Amino acid sequence: MILRTHNCGELRESHVGQTVSLNGWVNSYRDHGNLIFIDLRDRFGLTQLVFDPDDANAAGLAVAGDKHAHTGMMGLADKLRNEDVVAVTGLVRVRRGGENPKLPTGKIEIVVTSLEVLNKTENPPFLPDDNAALPNEELRLKYRYLDLRRPAMQRVLATRSRAYKVTRDYFHNNGFLEVETPILYKSTPEGAREFLVPCRNVPGNFYALPQSPQLFKQILMVANADRYMQICRCFRDEDPRADRQPEFTQIDLEMSFVRREQLMQMMEGFVRHFWKEMLGYTVPPLQRMSYRDAMEKYGIDRPDTRYDLFIHDISELAARTEFAVFRNALEKGKDRPKFNSKRGVVKAIRVPGGAEKLTRKITDGYSDFAKPFGVGGVATVKYIADPAGPKFDTGCAKFLEPLKADFVAALGLQPGDTVLFIADAYAPATKAIGELRQKVARDMGMVPPHGAQGGPWNFLWVVDFPMFEKNKETGKWIAMHHPFTAPRDDQRDLFVNAGVEDDDAIESIVSAGYDIVLNGSEIAGGSVRIHDKAVQAKVFQLLGLSPEQAKEKFSFLLEALSYGAPPHAGIAFGFDRLIMHVLGTENIRDVIAFPKTQIGQDLMTRAPSFVPDKQLADVHVKSTFDPNAQAQQPAKA
Ligand code: AMO
Repeated sequence: MILRTHNCGELRESHVGQTVSLNGWVNSYRDHGNLIFIDLRDRFGLTQLVFDPDDANAAGLAVAGDKHAHTGMMGLADKLRNEDVVAVTGLVRVRRGGENPKLPTGKIEIVVTSLEVLNKTENPPFLPDDNAALPNEELRLKYRYLDLRRPAMQRVLATRSRAYKVTRDYFHNNGFLEVETPILYKSTPEGAREFLVPCRNVPGNFYALPQSPQLFKQILMVANADRYMQICRCFRDEDPRADRQPEFTQIDLEMSFVRREQLMQMMEGFVRHFWKEMLGYTVPPLQRMSYRDAMEKYGIDRPDTRYDLFIHDISELAARTEFAVFRNALEKGKDRPKFNSKRGVVKAIRVPGGAEKLTRKITDGYSDFAKPFGVGGVATVKYIADPAGPKFDTGCAKFLEPLKADFVAALGLQPGDTVLFIADAYAPATKAIGELRQKVARDMGMVPPHGAQGGPWNFLWVVDFPMFEKNKETGKWIAMHHPFTAPRDDQRDLFVNAGVEDDDAIESIVSAGYDIVLNGSEIAGGSVRIHDKAVQAKVFQLLGLSPEQAKEKFSFLLEALSYGAPPHAGIAFGFDRLIMHVLGTENIRDVIAFPKTQIGQDLMTRAPSFVPDKQLADVHVKSTFDPNAQAQQPAKA
């Protein structure tokens, strides 16, 4: 085989006159009668090859003195097709047909004197060409190796690879110890559903794949790792979404002998280092927002602060109207404290210019959009110019008109605005209006382009989350982050002394958790951990775990914590999400080499797949799946 002396991206005018060898794929093929042009591609770039009988003779074959080889080579070249794998030797010369300024190698070409076909390709289902229309995603995932040959996908792989290094550089330089933790792990109730792995040696027992290395990293603090990092794979059996995969990568971190502030400073340093190294962008000091403010102004704990469109709580004003929708909602839980999840509220968004842009058809759809979040619907009104002075129009106008001046003042209304209202209990109303805010921003064309495409980078710490929230289905408390998250330092005594039946008190306890949000996407989340037995016992009690159950689930952690656990805190960044931001893409599948589909399948390997009964029996598992039951058939790959 002809081994390469150079790659396809490195030859320049300074190489003119040299004899070189290249290996790669045929990227494009142009036959100009007696002359054949090929762009040869490898990971490093493209180089133009010329098969020219006369020039080849002059350049090389004459030296070799082999006329037959020359004729044979032209015959071989003539049969080359896109994606064939070849090796060539030839002479570097200045391009005869004029330079191609788009290519770094665009000033030169290679007059081929010797061609070796390393492998002919089958007719590929599509060509890895960024300029052609992309085939559908199913095809791209099935033939992922062809898709990954596209320059855009090569950039993704290169970006990820560089990001691993940039990440390691920062944390290694700051004294973090890189430790691998097990993939075959213990089933623990951490949040999402787990993937289980049956165990052959211990019948009836299962490993679980880790949702994150949370417990191991805490144990590593007890083990004196002091500062831990790992770029690790996490597994969660959830339905994939645009920014969620069942198998994804975290930059997992934990630090000993710190409180919230020290951890936040270290991680802010990382964010600054990462953006500087990856994109040359200097991240300004991160803003901080409390969970409460985020929920009040944006209706979501990961606010997109790139556009205003604020949410207003107009409950007091709404109570003075005769509008039954408002008044009925405000009756709900009216004796509960402010911000209590069950207390009725009326929330509103003022949409500047909405009276014209948000047509009736669009606003009619908003009720259907909001209902799945647990509210009755969306009330609308326009505020329009009128010869007799601006007035409310359409929708619930007649109920608002008597209090016009107050509404105008409370919402800062201008003629031409539309106002959208949601009236319900605090929790569903906040959730629904937060989602609606994002939809309206899209409908109004208010969402700026990605940071990577010239738009703003709005980084934000969200802090002071509640410790607990109620599970909507079971009505039981669940830990908002995870059961090892500590209350904020000043809340510890309040928490330990709160009655377990006192829902309102429990709901009001603030944790020492924190998230980093970028342009409305959660890129990291973590917390200060509990290293105090009384606090941990109270958390388990609230989560409905008896001391025995807690011991069964977490005995190893609880035991470890009892042998001298240092105060510690940690966080994990969603690595794939960081790459999505760096590349400015909406789809997490675009930044993972071999991602899963919406229903968790790998279309290339066709995982998951059936296994024979014999194999199941080896691991002591019996499938209840009935191949004749249509409904259970997995979707075709
Ligand atoms: P958390 O569950 O918040 O915290 O996850 C941390 C970050 O990981 C990313 N992420 C995901 N990315 C892609 N697909 C998913 N399914 C997915 N789920 C989460 C997000 C998120 O902010 N052990 C804790 C961290 C800690 O407390 O230190 C944890 O896993 O960007």
